[in-house]
Parts: sequence; C-alpha cells; structure tokens
Amino acid sequence: MKNRPIGIFDSGVGGLTVFDALARTSPAESLVYFGDTGRYPYGVRSKRVIVEYSRQIAGFLERQGCKFLVVACNSASSLALEEVRASVSVEVIGVIEPGAAAAVRATRNGHIGVIGTEATIRSGSYTRAIHAIRPDIKISAVACPLFVALAEEGFAGKPATRLVAEEYLSGLVDAGVDTLVLGCTHYPLLKSDIAAVMGPRVGLIDSATEVARVVGNRLVSLNHHSERNETADHQFYVSDTPERFASVGKRFLGYQVAPVHLVDMEALQHFAEPASSDI
Ligand code: DGL
Repeated sequence: MKNRPIGIFDSGVGGLTVFDALARTSPAESLVYFGDTGRYPYGVRSKRVIVEYSRQIAGFLERQGCKFLVVACNSASSLALEEVRASVSVEVIGVIEPGAAAAVRATRNGHIGVIGTEATIRSGSYTRAIHAIRPDIKISAVACPLFVALAEEGFAGKPATRLVAEEYLSGLVDAGVDTLVLGCTHYPLLKSDIAAVMGPRVGLIDSATEVARVVGNRLVSLNHHSERNETADHQFYVSDTPERFASVGKRFLGYQVAPVHLVDMEALQHFAEPASSDI
C-alpha cells in the first residue's frame, strides 16, 4: 500500500497547482494526475454531469492502483465529492474543507470572501464548509469565470487581467472582507493580480497549498505514506490534446510535465455506472 501512487484529478490542466503543491510537500509520493481536457470546463456544467465524469475518473485512478485520491478541481469537489467517495474503496479528499478551514483560521474580522467558478459558487460548498466550523462568519461569494481563461493564456500580470480583477473583486473590497479564498484551481496563478486589487490587508487562501498539507498529514495518520528513498515517479493522463496539456502545464508549473498519456473518452465511461438521473 505505502508505495502505491496518489491519484489527483481535475477538469484539465488547472489541477497541476495541486499536483505541484503535493509534489513539493510529499516528495517521496508518486503521483498519477488525470486532466479531463476532452470534457473541460466543469465550472459551467450541472451536478449530474460533473458527478458522472468524476466517478469515471476516480474509477480509472483506482484501477491504476492509487492508494488515495485528491479531487483537485473545486467544481468537482463542490458537487461530486460524496458520490466519488461512495464509488471507490480508497480514501478521497477534496479541496473545499482544507481551504475553508484555513480561511476560518485566518480571518480576524469574521468576513470571508470566496471566488470560484459558477458551479462552485452556485453550490454554496465553501459557505457550508465555513459555517460548519463557525456559523457566525459572514461570507461574500463571487463567480469569476474569466479568470480561468486568463490564467491559461498566460495573462497573469497583464493590464487586461487587472481590469477584469477590478470588475469582479471591487464589490468584495467594498464589502470589507479580510480574507479571500481562491476557490478555483487556476486562481493561484493570478495571485498577484488579485492581491493588487484586494490590497495588502486581505489575506489570500490558496486551496492547493492547504490540501497538500492535509493529504500529507492524513497519509501519515493512516500509515500509508511512502517510505521509498528513490525519486518518486509521476504519470499524467488526459482525455484529449496531450500536447496542449504539456505546453499549458509548462506555463503553469515552469517545468515540463511528461510523459502525458491519452485516455480514450469512450473507455472512461466503463470505469463507473452512469449517474442517476435524479441528482
Ligand atoms: N478546475 C476547475 C475548478 O477548480 C476550473 C476549470 C473548469 O471550469 O473546469 O473549479
């Protein structure tokens, strides 16, 4: 068990922020990353579809021998975590609870902002997770869909990004949040643009870093942490355009991700039963 890999999945390339955080905090762990580039984006889709795709990928990763699964995608963590947990026999962790807990620890004035995709914000997942810890906290949530494209295009630090950030975030500045949860895989790449608009008194919570810390601790407490000494081995799988994944991935991480394997989308459907229509 100990030397089996950790599986991580996302709708596409964005979850590499979580991959990178995990690779840094748990360097002995081998990682298998799946990016659903053929069915990206998830942030505008319904719960039924996100559940179906997520269960298929979780089934695929379990079949690869993964000992633990991380749902790196905030949209999938928001809408499909329970269903994914019920469909596999290994432990599954999402990004919402770790990010919410870090935000609660950080706030001083009890007013937290949350930004994410439409699916994440509509689900209310961060609000529920924050209120489960501290029901008195005030939450202001805003969907920022354009941030995803800006991050993928390498527009961090460009004037267009600053304008979009002002448009999306000025309401949160006026509302007086003192902590902002970056509730989407892509947003850590725009951290300095977001920080410039929010100002120096607002703390930014990066779910990727938080989940990496929680996964490391959890593996030790389950006694499933790797004890190998040699370099960990990482694998990347996508459902379309491996070359694009590799080039955007390099932009995200600053280093090459390889090898990137293509998985047939038809084949993916055999890793889980179709989601029930009453979701
Ligand atoms: N990975 C998604 C998330 O964190 C963002 C991209 C998408 O919409 O699929 O919510």
